[in-house]
Amino acid sequence: PAPVITIDGPTASGKGTVAQAVASALGWQVLDSGALYRLTALAASQAGIADEDLDGLAQAARSLDVRFDGGAIWLAGQRVEETIRQEAVGNRASRIAALLPVREALLARQRAFRQVPGLVADGRDMGTIVFPDAPLKIFLVADAEARARRRAKQLSDKGISANLEDILRDMRERDARDTHRSVAPLVAAQDAITLDSSNWTAEETTRAILQLWSE
Ligand code: CDP
Repeated sequence: PAPVITIDGPTASGKGTVAQAVASALGWQVLDSGALYRLTALAASQAGIADEDLDGLAQAARSLDVRFDGGAIWLAGQRVEETIRQEAVGNRASRIAALLPVREALLARQRAFRQVPGLVADGRDMGTIVFPDAPLKIFLVADAEARARRRAKQLSDKGISANLEDILRDMRERDARDTHRSVAPLVAAQDAITLDSSNWTAEETTRAILQLWSE
């Protein structure tokens, strides 16, 4: 099978940026698995499916009509790459990601991204559940303040003003939910290498991962 580098970690640890940079340096595909949970959340909201409707949510996940095209994401013919970044969508994604039927419905779709020459997969359970045989697994962490600052900057770059305290509170809530859920909790795979990017730029983190891959 094609090689996979998995990058798992908590929210706003810089996984997305770093996964893209590692993939483009190697000429590999990238899987943003969080986007699939966000897309499921958005599709469910648009279809009026409630949080309690497990079958409906799993069906929404299974039948996602999505196309990734460079930076663009199309959901049922609609461009949604900006919409799915909204905090409301992220929060719903985090809630439905705790449901086993939803996670199972997305498994095959995620594994289909594994193609030659290789894949960089970004998420929470890439190294533990989706690609347990990946030859290189990174668990990317950063302290909460560093992550909140990054998230605030991401938002302000998009012209959205956000209060650092609010971001920090939302992030801690999301971290707690992702870590303590009974299904696919956020945890480093036993054979993962943990990198702390609190004091690193995205470039430095990317270089560290490429170095590990070349060893
Ligand atoms: O941007 P952020 O890191 O906060 O989130 P994301 O990676 O876009 O993922 C959104 C939500 O989906 C997360 O809060 C997780 O609860 C969930 N998720 C997951 O459970 N498993 C994955 N492999 C990826 C995301």
